[in-house]
Amino acid sequence: MDKLIIRGGTPLQGEIRISGAKNAVLPILSGALLADSPVVISNVPHLNDVTTTMELLGRMGVNLVIDEKLNIEIDSNTIQSFRAPYELVKTMRASILVLGPLLARFGKADVSLPGGCAIGTRPVDLHIKGLQAMGANIVVEDGYIKASAKRLHGARIIMETVTVTGTENLLMAATLADGQTVIENAAREPEVTDLVNFLIKMGANINGVGTDTLVIEGKEKLDGTRYRVLPDRIETGTYLVAGAITAGHVKLKDTDAKLLDSVLQKLRDAGADITTGEDWIELNMHGRRPQAVDVKTAPYPAFPTDMQAQFTALNAIANGAGSVTETVFENRFMHVQEMQRMGARVRVEGRTAYSQGIPRLTGAQVMATDLRASASLILAGLAADGETIVDRIYHIDRGYEAIEEKLRQLGASIQRKPN
Ligand code: EPZ
Repeated sequence: MDKLIIRGGTPLQGEIRISGAKNAVLPILSGALLADSPVVISNVPHLNDVTTTMELLGRMGVNLVIDEKLNIEIDSNTIQSFRAPYELVKTMRASILVLGPLLARFGKADVSLPGGCAIGTRPVDLHIKGLQAMGANIVVEDGYIKASAKRLHGARIIMETVTVTGTENLLMAATLADGQTVIENAAREPEVTDLVNFLIKMGANINGVGTDTLVIEGKEKLDGTRYRVLPDRIETGTYLVAGAITAGHVKLKDTDAKLLDSVLQKLRDAGADITTGEDWIELNMHGRRPQAVDVKTAPYPAFPTDMQAQFTALNAIANGAGSVTETVFENRFMHVQEMQRMGARVRVEGRTAYSQGIPRLTGAQVMATDLRASASLILAGLAADGETIVDRIYHIDRGYEAIEEKLRQLGASIQRKPN
């Protein structure tokens, strides 16, 4: 397994481009299964999770054509199999997103249960309950969700918990169901909104975009279209924290400040001087060490759980005492013990990580456990004296396109070492 070797202590300076959003492109690629004619998706980030999704669709017989800019043309008319096998689903939980589209368009789906992951049990009970409310016959056996439906019908679904992919699966299923579906307590993440906009471009009838109540009038069919995926707000936030944690000055292009208001507010509270434009964000610490902040994660538009680990790293070297409270997942603090090995004065009590910031961490050999924890350890390494070796970085390659190239462009000393 590859490692990343980081020599810390350099304030990051410079400009980089932000890639398309991982958590938008994954549902949109699955949503392409709903269209009667080819779909072309652009601004696709080059990530392992995208490759896995393309492999999954390819194995079903879906025809995929990729051009040199990584625009992907998807034609699902050649589909032969409606199965998402365990060996793919276990590497990427978001494979569950083919369930709704397969059921809605083809009336059958055989999708492996994703199982848990490092950050939590990650159940999919609300996906299943919602599809059953829409008339799907679903049996869970041998580790697979075996689903069928002559034709789904509309239903009024009140989500017990705000779930991003749960909302996305039911939304996609509803676009071809017979009648009206209302999804209440729907997730409002920008990636859900991007999926809604994509589905509307294919001819879906959806109202309530951006709100917690989505009203979908089912159609007989959806047509192919061309769609550009929105920028990745979590990649954006991660590089902004890279600038803040090293007391640097960075400019991020091809992004959208409106996607991460809550993160920008916390960075300003930490002392960052932030300016924004149509498609860029600039952060300047003026060489100052950040101030510690208090953060509490919750569904959008509140502070995103996917930025929690990055702020735990920021607090570790910030001035003063800070806290990070995780309310979405039950086990998303594994990066803390790794940071403690770098000298961080942080302790977890219940759902909160309490930090007493110190001026510099000390480089160490650390291990990544999940995507955002990996990112937080790289950030800690950028702010540490000496060398940090981050192991198991296959996690990072799932969600950050060309991370070492982008960080090197900002002046970081980082290289990848195959094991
Ligand atoms: C999406 O995961 C994202 N992944 C996650 O990003 C993100 O952390 C998460 O939303 C929260 O924002 C993708 O979009 C591909 P949830 P998802 O369903 O949809 C409970 C990253 O780092 N729940 O919104 O799987 C669940 O246990 C990844 O990019 C149920 O109880 O998360 C959790 O406590 C990590 N039953 C809460 O809802 C269900 O059927 C929110 O989970 C579904 C979810």
